[in-house]
Amino acid sequence: MKVASHAVARMLGTWQEGPGPAHQRLSDRLRLLVLDGRLSLGSAMPSERDLAVALSTSRTTVGAAYRTLVEHGYLATRARARATVRLPDDTPPERRAGTDPATIDLSFAAPPAPVEILHAAFAAALEQLPRHFERHGYDRSGTAELREAVAHWYERRGLPTPPDHILITNGAQHALALLARTLVSPRDKVLIDHPTYPHAISTFTAARARLLPVAVAPSGWDTAQLQAAGRIASLAYLIPDFHNPTGLCMPASVRQSLRLACPTVIDETMTDLALDTASPEPFAMHMPTAISIGSVSKSIWGGLRIGWIRATPSLLERVQQTRYATDLGTPVVEQLATAVLLNEGRTQRPGALQQLRSQRDTLRQALTEHLPHVHAPQPAGGLTLWATFPQPISSRLAAIAPDHGVSIAAGPRFGIGGAFERNIRLPYTLPPSQLTQAIRGLAQAEQALTRGATGAHGPAPVA
Ligand SMILES: Cc1ncc(COP(=O)(O)O)c(C=O)c1O
Repeated sequence: MKVASHAVARMLGTWQEGPGPAHQRLSDRLRLLVLDGRLSLGSAMPSERDLAVALSTSRTTVGAAYRTLVEHGYLATRARARATVRLPDDTPPERRAGTDPATIDLSFAAPPAPVEILHAAFAAALEQLPRHFERHGYDRSGTAELREAVAHWYERRGLPTPPDHILITNGAQHALALLARTLVSPRDKVLIDHPTYPHAISTFTAARARLLPVAVAPSGWDTAQLQAAGRIASLAYLIPDFHNPTGLCMPASVRQSLRLACPTVIDETMTDLALDTASPEPFAMHMPTAISIGSVSKSIWGGLRIGWIRATPSLLERVQQTRYATDLGTPVVEQLATAVLLNEGRTQRPGALQQLRSQRDTLRQALTEHLPHVHAPQPAGGLTLWATFPQPISSRLAAIAPDHGVSIAAGPRFGIGGAFERNIRLPYTLPPSQLTQAIRGLAQAEQALTRGATGAHGPAPVA
């Protein structure tokens, strides 16, 4: 497959700015696009001349960048053919971000498990398990216990929900993938928050949708822009509750007035993580047609791999039909344990929220001390700060940060077209001492970048 020069230019975004020679910045950014999967393996790159025109730069710059990529094994060349994307054969695993155990991993925004509470829930689940033994155990929509528990979770929050409006999935990501498979056709336009959750971008890109980004500014969502985009989109995907990555919570006034003309998926994965505000009301109270997805990954533990979709039974039936192509159900014990946890109200644990508040404050304090020029507003909830640097250095910082003991998710992972090169996402899910150490490492990495250092690390996985 040939990649068009303008498509590469769009992915690169603002690569021109930043320290170091232009060809080095260009090869670094192209390498990250390869490692990130945005330039697919085997695809044919634009010619040097075409890319130089698309980037408004010299052919010498593109030629030098391509030569570096060939030297490091990221491009293969053949006589009279376009260079094709490849990966070096010999990348040792420790050079891949997130794989060195000594590195502090700030790429995942997910809390550790509440051990005792989980033990007790699994003990209760094992006691209930025998009543499932008489049946085959394949259940496309989930166990009755968990569907009822999720329905009650909505009801306690003010939204009456019959259990047949709930479909249990293997996490919210699975819920989103199933919905994309059911509702999105190639070339459909999908409205997304910009920035947004990176795996939502991958999901809709894999469905061959065209993404329609609508800015989530520091001041929040713009109702008029959302509604205008909603008129031309086939689907909208929004994270109104403690948005990943900004931590913003959509105000009640916006929820009440927002009318989207297209089907709308609302991701409520972060709902129970209200730190400085009351928990938001379920979105579907204001938009009854909303398709809600949720999960216990952030409020309890990601390892449970339990999520759900709340929608009409007719849509859930269509989703179930789609599901056969990928999986045949969700493990029963995890469902029973999650039902226990939800029924006991364990998704909202004041102690866990207090710990997150204190870790968030430590992280912000460490930024003030070690990276005072970085702007990171205090989010009202969720698990992450969305930090802004004065310079567009995010991808290069992410590539070099593991050399200074920390791995981070670069800003462009959260957007399209190379946007957010001044941002990084910083989760506050680790203990305070590690957070402070990580910020010290980032400050050192930034200084090294200023001295012209380059990194060889690929992007870390994100969640
Ligand atoms: C907004 C958002 N949606 C969905 C997910 C995926 O959640 P799960 O672990 O339940 O698949 C995440 C995880 O980071 C997330 O931040």
